[in-house]
Amino acid sequence: MSQATQSRGAVHARLLLALVVISAASLILAVSARQVQRKTFHNAPASAAQAHNPFSDSKDAAKAGAHLYALNCSACHGPRAQGNGDIPGLLGQSTQSASPGELFWYLTTGEPDKGMPAWNSLSSDDRWRLVTFLKTFPPGAPIPSGPGSPSPAMEAAMRAWPAPNPPFTDFRYEHPGAIRKITLADLPPPYATHSAGNGPQIVPRPNDAWPQAPPGFVVELYATGLHNPRLIRAAPNGDVFVAESEPGDVKVFRGFTPAGKPELVEIFASGMHLPYGINFYPPGPDPQYVYIGTTDAVLRFPYRNGDTKARGPAERLASLPGGGNHWTRDIAFTPDGRKMLVSVGSASNVDDPDTTPRETNRADILEFNPDGTGMRVYAYGLRNGGSGIAFDPLTGELWCSVNERDALGDDLVPDYITHVVPGGFYGWPWFYLSGSLQDPRHAGKHPELKSKVITPDVLLQPHNASLQLTFYEGAQFPAEYRGDIFASQHGSWNRSVRTGYDLIRIPLHHSGHSTGEYQEFVTGFVLPDGMVWGRPVGITVAADGSLLMSDDASESLWRIRYAKK
Ligand code: HEC
Repeated sequence: MSQATQSRGAVHARLLLALVVISAASLILAVSARQVQRKTFHNAPASAAQAHNPFSDSKDAAKAGAHLYALNCSACHGPRAQGNGDIPGLLGQSTQSASPGELFWYLTTGEPDKGMPAWNSLSSDDRWRLVTFLKTFPPGAPIPSGPGSPSPAMEAAMRAWPAPNPPFTDFRYEHPGAIRKITLADLPPPYATHSAGNGPQIVPRPNDAWPQAPPGFVVELYATGLHNPRLIRAAPNGDVFVAESEPGDVKVFRGFTPAGKPELVEIFASGMHLPYGINFYPPGPDPQYVYIGTTDAVLRFPYRNGDTKARGPAERLASLPGGGNHWTRDIAFTPDGRKMLVSVGSASNVDDPDTTPRETNRADILEFNPDGTGMRVYAYGLRNGGSGIAFDPLTGELWCSVNERDALGDDLVPDYITHVVPGGFYGWPWFYLSGSLQDPRHAGKHPELKSKVITPDVLLQPHNASLQLTFYEGAQFPAEYRGDIFASQHGSWNRSVRTGYDLIRIPLHHSGHSTGEYQEFVTGFVLPDGMVWGRPVGITVAADGSLLMSDDASESLWRIRYAKK
């Protein structure tokens, strides 16, 4: 119990500043939009603001509220109320600009269809204590944990939970080498189970925990002490670029010492707003620029092979729609170098772009000229494909890793990885995975689009949070791996029992095409009691043919190497 409690404080200590910046930025937008439309907090009735908090300014109530928070809210909103995946943080401007009465009203009614439960199961005094806590708690201070933190009891509870219904699985059954295949015929109807709030509780890696890979492969710790490492991409000369998104920098890692550590680490550029995507232009051995996808712009720096510091200031080539959820933007260049593709996730879970202006040009892959001009939509209806796009070197086809929607139940909707057809429509928000599967929250809309919905190539476990993908072009792994896709799975929150938190492989059988199967490749980041110590984000192939993977929970880089027998 105490270990979990302490570690939650320690591990998240540095997230807050950046999250305040993110929420401030997105909330300036939200607030100004709200002023224009004269809307209240989540459409609270005007009378809500009149309600009086019986505990305002009571320190005891705030403390009790913190305990209630740890018990009821932290699993979704994060142990420091910093937010979690799609779920907003609560100590930023949005919640702070709401009146106590509006917050009370919101806790009481919730927004179940968006994943926020109604808390009328708590007494009205307890709801006011929560409001007092939210209104008086200083951002960054450690939130005292509630009683009953998980450990042996939680482990037993995890074991007691019913086994998953194959082909669905969860962390208790995920292991290196397991092959999975999900088809449309396997899907339950919407709302077969309720929408879970099960965000990860991050703990430090216990001494006996280590990532597990199939026989013949070894996993080594390449670098530690990073700060929110996200996308990772090898440059043509073999240097490895890593986006540290929250501090806003990009670092370069070079080589392997005999002990398997980097020979050099430098900050290439800093001061960016949530950098994520990284790519090199023009394609080929002699790039002239590094492109960076920040959450609201495409930037580029002049670059020559071997540079470890930007040799000039950033040029801002194009603005991107920012704010809301899904802030990652990946970048890829067509193999002929003529076009740049940028993937931009939706701002919301399933808001209708027809009536929600902030969804314009989101849930899309956007195409530009490499100088940032000539924007058009390349493919659409990809809810959040912002975390991973790449061209298959064999076929020249673009592939994308997509986070599908939440709040329809444990086994809906599968995330997916697919090749992307130019002009293609992938369903969001009105349909999911097929024209015959309409989102119940948009029933009856857009019948004319039914026949256009493309079913993705590889369905993954629902809520996996599939992020970066890469094609294995190295020579170190056995020949059967050549050309296969590796993809990082950040792990679920909207599922009763966790899934994801692993690295998967999609075998393409040297054909450039998938049969729909994927294989769990590196697992072991979730402990038996459900606590999480590692979360894969980025994946790239190093010059020697090993894989390098970033992990933003232990804030490290892992190397996966084939050790010949
Ligand atoms: C099952 C996950 C889950 C749990 C548990 C949960 N929330 Fe939420 N909450 C959400 C989601 C998802 C949203 C965003 C809804 C939307 O899209 O508007 C949200 C939104 C909010 C907001 C509005 C934030 C904003 O920026 O507008 C507040 C305030 C809030 N929750 C408070 C709480 C409190 C207090 C608790 C504990 C009593 C709690 N939540 C528990 C999922 C959860």
